[in-house]
Amino acid sequence: MARVALVTGGTRGIGAAISKALKAAGRSVVASYHGNDAAATAFHAETAIPVRRFDAGSYAESEAAVKAIAAEFGAVEILVNNAGITRDGTLAKMSREMWDAVIDTNLGSCFNLCKATFEGMRAAKFGRVVNIGSINGQAGQYGQVNYAAAKSGIHGFTKALAQEGARFGITVNAIAPGYVDTEMVRAVPADVLQKIVARIPMGRLGHAEDIARGVAFLTADDADFITGSTLSINGGQHMY
Ligand code: CAA
Repeated sequence: MARVALVTGGTRGIGAAISKALKAAGRSVVASYHGNDAAATAFHAETAIPVRRFDAGSYAESEAAVKAIAAEFGAVEILVNNAGITRDGTLAKMSREMWDAVIDTNLGSCFNLCKATFEGMRAAKFGRVVNIGSINGQAGQYGQVNYAAAKSGIHGFTKALAQEGARFGITVNAIAPGYVDTEMVRAVPADVLQKIVARIPMGRLGHAEDIARGVAFLTADDADFITGSTLSINGGQHMY
C-alpha cells in the first residue's frame, strides 16, 4: 500500500510542487492549507490530491487533523513541514504579533505535526520527516529577525529529532531553499529582489520543482542512511 505523506502548506508555491512530486513518487499525498480556499480548490481540481484545511501553527488543530487523516487514509509516515509565512520588517518596526505569527506558523508547526505523527512512525519503524528551513535561517536577512530565528530553529530541531528517530528507522532532514520564484518572494520589493538575484551565482531564482526534487530524494524508502542533514538548494547563493 502506498505510504501516506502529509505536506503542510501543500497547495501553493513550493508546497504544491512537493505534493505533486511525492504523488509522482507513488505516495498517497494529503496537502494541508490554512487560508486560501480558492487556491486549494484549484490545486485539488488540477492534481486530485486531497486537501485539508487546518492551522499548522495550532497544536489542537494539528493533532485533530492528523487523527482524521490517519482514519481516512492511514497513518502518516512521510511528513513535510513546509507551511511558512513572512512578516518582514526591521526590529524597530516589528510588533510582538509579527514575531509570534512567524514563530508559531514556521517553527511551532514542526513541533505540532511531529508530535502528532511521531508515535505512529515509531510503531511502524519507518518515518521520513523533511522540514523546510531557509537560506535566511542559515545566513540571516535584514528585516527578518522573526523568520530567520524560526528557520534557524528548524535546523536545530531537525538535528535533535534526527537523533531521537534514528533507532526507529525515522529520518529527519531539512532543506534550506534559497530565493524561489513564489508569491512569497515576489512580495519582496522589486529593487531589493534585484540585488538579491544579482548575488545568486546561477543567475536566477529557484523553481519550486528544484526544492521538490530534494524532498523526493530525502523521503525515498531507501534514503535510510541520510538523517540530520541540511540540503541547501539555493543556486550557490550561500555555501554552508
Ligand atoms: N543591509 C543594510 N541595510 C539595508 C538592507 C540590507 N540588506 N536592506 C535595507 N537596508 C537599509 C536601506 O538602505 C534603508 O537605509 P536608509 O534609510 O539609510 O536609506 C533602510 O535600511 C530602510 O530601513 P526601513 O526600516 O525604513 O525599511 P523598510 O521598513 O521600508 O523595509 C524591509 C525594510 C521590510 C526589510 C525591506 O527592505 C524588505 O522587504 N527586504 C527584503 C527582506 C527579504 O529578503 N525577505 C525575504 C522574503 S522571501 C523569504 O523569506 C523566503 C526565503 O526563505 C528565502
